[in-house]
Amino acid sequence: SSNKMWGGRFATGPDAIMEAINASIGFDRRMARQDIEGSRAHAAMLAAQGIVTDTDAEAIREGLLTVLSEIEAGDFAWSAALEDIHMNVEARLTEIVGPAAGRLHTARSRNDQVALDFRMWVRDQCDAAIDALPRLMSALVAQADAGADWVMPGFTHLQTAQPVTWGHHMLAYTEMFARDLGRFRDARSRMNESPLGAAALAGTSFPIDREMTAKALGFDRPAANSLDAVSDRDFALEFLSAASICAMHLSRLAEELVIWSSAQFRFVRLSDRWSTGSSIMPQKRNPDAAELLRAKIGRIFGAQTALLMVMKGLPLTYSKDMQEDKEQTFDAADSLMLALAAMTGMVGDMTAQTDDLEAAASSGFSTATDLADWLVRELGLPFREAHHVTGSLVKLAEDAGIDLPDLTLEQMRIVHPGITGAVFDVLGVHNSVASRTSFGGTAPANVRAQVALWKERLA
Ligand code: ARG
Repeated sequence: SSNKMWGGRFATGPDAIMEAINASIGFDRRMARQDIEGSRAHAAMLAAQGIVTDTDAEAIREGLLTVLSEIEAGDFAWSAALEDIHMNVEARLTEIVGPAAGRLHTARSRNDQVALDFRMWVRDQCDAAIDALPRLMSALVAQADAGADWVMPGFTHLQTAQPVTWGHHMLAYTEMFARDLGRFRDARSRMNESPLGAAALAGTSFPIDREMTAKALGFDRPAANSLDAVSDRDFALEFLSAASICAMHLSRLAEELVIWSSAQFRFVRLSDRWSTGSSIMPQKRNPDAAELLRAKIGRIFGAQTALLMVMKGLPLTYSKDMQEDKEQTFDAADSLMLALAAMTGMVGDMTAQTDDLEAAASSGFSTATDLADWLVRELGLPFREAHHVTGSLVKLAEDAGIDLPDLTLEQMRIVHPGITGAVFDVLGVHNSVASRTSFGGTAPANVRAQVALWKERLA
């Protein structure tokens, strides 16, 4: 039999494979709530404008609530023959309210309908990220608060560079996630224009009120161009871009947790709740959540690339290609929310191994820069010469199998006779970090000031 939505000019129904490739109900049912909310607003507007009667609009709006409750209760019979969420909902509405349901689609197309539903779904995901990120940031700030003066090695090239504070490292990620938060907020405000009323592509001759539906659905305004409104998906791409950058930050932190929780580093102990054991090696505490998080991030990058690929060759306006915008965006959003929640849990529960951190910070000649700076400050050496002298002292210590603070003053004075006993003050890691008071530097005093600021902002 021919299709009941457009069967007027069709003699037979679609091939089974045609139906299989065409159907999106397997995934776009996730937009049921948005679809129904949008339809209810549309029906109310049609009545307010005298395009349908109040009686019909009321029946439609009530019927849509019934459909929603059936869907939410899990007893809705989804039909692939009805293709997508829009037609599934409308077909069921027709069963419930009768012919009046047929008036709902006046002055509307599935093109503006799907653009609306998807936009609202993505907007919800922005809100979810905007809600989740401050919780992760608070967990990082709590770590920074506890460890404002715990010393650890700071790395470049994953080689010991200079001692830094644990708190400073935690606040570095807080800054990154704060920018991510800003990106989700920016994306949300830019996407907050309603496509509803663009109809198929050209607008409609019915006297609709797009301001009314936009307002009812929480949009700032209706989108100004109907062709643009039905055919662009940059709102989803912006969400995926913000998600990708955030995911990249999450993945770097996950990578650090994997390294730090190893027996070789022992910088951090993940709690039992965030570790897994091995069925054969009893000593194991594996950081599976951090590893999976690191891996899942690839799905988010993939979704962004996939959607760019779908869109890049499409002439205006709607093409069915665009149905492929949703599945990977859904998956990316799920992956992001899971990753944010897992990272918040791991960070909140983890314990810095302060003794091991300090021991690591003190090895690897981490205060060589402090020594060179001392030679400049106290002896007036040009930095390049101070660098050379310090290099010789490092070599001396390395050859003797000791660290810089273990050299005797006599040994040092062979390399440069001007060195005095006061040099030992700058060779300790605590003095080193305490001296880094330049704005943005790692000194515990700076960290405490920043922690206070973050607590205020996050309150
Ligand atoms: N399921 C479709 C999608 O996701 C809805 C829009 C269909 N529009 C159309 N003209 N066939 O894109």
